[in-house]
Amino acid sequence: MAQEDVFKKVVSHCKEYGFVFPSSEIYDGLGAVYDYGQNGVELKNNIKNYWWQYMVRLHDNIVGIDSAIFMHPTIWKASGHVDAFNDPLIDNRDSKKRYRADVLIEEQIAKYEEKIEKEVAKAKKRFGDSFDEEKFRSTSERVIEEKAKRDALEKRYQEVMNAEGGIDLEGMKQIILDEGIVCPISGTRNWTDVRQFNLMFKTEMGASADGASTVYLRPETAQGIFVNYLNVQKTGRMKVPFGIAQIGKAFRNEIVARQFIFRMREFEQMEMQFFVKPGTELQWFEEWKKRRMAWHQALGFGAENYRFHDHDKLAHYANAATDVEFKMPFGFKEVEGIHSRTDFDLSQHAKFSGKKIEYFDPEDNTSYTPYVIETSIGVDRMFLSVICHSYCEEKLEGGETRVVLRLPAALAPVKLAVFPLTKKDGLPEKAQEIINSLKFHFNCKYEEKDQIGKRYRRQDAIGTPFCVTVDNQTLEDNTVTLRYRDTMEQKRVAIADLQGIIEEKVSIPYLLKNLK
Ligand code: GAP
Repeated sequence: MAQEDVFKKVVSHCKEYGFVFPSSEIYDGLGAVYDYGQNGVELKNNIKNYWWQYMVRLHDNIVGIDSAIFMHPTIWKASGHVDAFNDPLIDNRDSKKRYRADVLIEEQIAKYEEKIEKEVAKAKKRFGDSFDEEKFRSTSERVIEEKAKRDALEKRYQEVMNAEGGIDLEGMKQIILDEGIVCPISGTRNWTDVRQFNLMFKTEMGASADGASTVYLRPETAQGIFVNYLNVQKTGRMKVPFGIAQIGKAFRNEIVARQFIFRMREFEQMEMQFFVKPGTELQWFEEWKKRRMAWHQALGFGAENYRFHDHDKLAHYANAATDVEFKMPFGFKEVEGIHSRTDFDLSQHAKFSGKKIEYFDPEDNTSYTPYVIETSIGVDRMFLSVICHSYCEEKLEGGETRVVLRLPAALAPVKLAVFPLTKKDGLPEKAQEIINSLKFHFNCKYEEKDQIGKRYRRQDAIGTPFCVTVDNQTLEDNTVTLRYRDTMEQKRVAIADLQGIIEEKVSIPYLLKNLK
């Protein structure tokens, strides 16, 4: 199946099976805002739990906090978000549609790349086994021509993005005009100038318009950690190196909000700031790269689906940065950022608040502003990567197709579904009895509607790793049929053994034990 089709199927599967709904759907939705349904919220909570248990429980020197979404507005001045958290925007006068100018240019670069790949694919088909791809790429006139155009555009793009004093907005517009980029709606080149647009949502705090002050919905959770650095370090008697972790909502007025829950206006982040002694930050950066990649790979999705994308161009306050990218159906995409942010944030907050924000190191009697390694992952992007990778359509013997979510059992919304074979003879009561004893240990679901086969399919579609059928034999010998999602194997087991068989496999610690 083409990857594009996989993605479309995942999106409709998420809706059909109660994972993700468009927000305010009965009012025709709200752009790039989504709600998590009955199964989605369980999967999301399990992802957050997997992160929290790894970061906070398994690291003696990391503690968690939960800071408020509203913060003093000066925080966003100090962090640089008021002045520099911008996207370059351009409007088409005919369609009245607004675009990110950088995205229009990146799409144009991608178009050249697509043309090159099409030429290569055509030649590969024509020449079969004797095809020498490397030679073709270096000698085909069409490929050389398209590559030259692509490289020239990339060079110009980098120049305008990295211009002295910030992005060269006029230069950006000129590229759009020179490349003949048209509005996908109107098909015209009737563009406005490029303007900077701040991504933070603003609102008023206070009862009266006079006394109200402007506050922002936080665009990242990290600043809540920085401004609590002193509180946590002192009350927790934390010794550098140590970390503070937080999970919470963040808001960005994204202009190009696309690809389902990949880029949203309201989303959730799991961030950790690790405070280290200046001079040791690059060692810690490498260490956190390793640890975070191990956490991702412990899900068992295959190392080939992950890669690091190290940043060549660094923000002025960073001295190293990388993205953990995952292979989504629409290509390798950033799921997590790992950044070495120097002492920028703490120093800025010291400057703007007038408070001394330092650490006294008892080992060498010195005081310093700690440097920070940040790991920042989007819960929703992680959710998307998990569900895309797990979605599977299988042809069964007899020609039937089953849709199964091969979720890691510890992340599955429901761990065990219990079915009475029929709705009579006391079987529903027996099934309910099993649920009542196991629901304290993991999430169970009762299902009595339809034939057993259909019930299995419904559970496969939401990724339930175990199903149990209660039949007349159960009433005699207290055994049930246990069915495994992935292999569809069925075996007779004692009710008394169910907890032991299932609990371990569906627990987060079971997943954490895969960590290398
Ligand atoms: N404190 C650093 C920070 O916020 P970022 O790279 O802007 O860094 C970190 O964001 C992560 O948050 C990203 O890797 C992504 O997973 C997630 N994220 C960012 N913007 C998002 C959006 N609009 N929708 C969903 N997730 C987003």
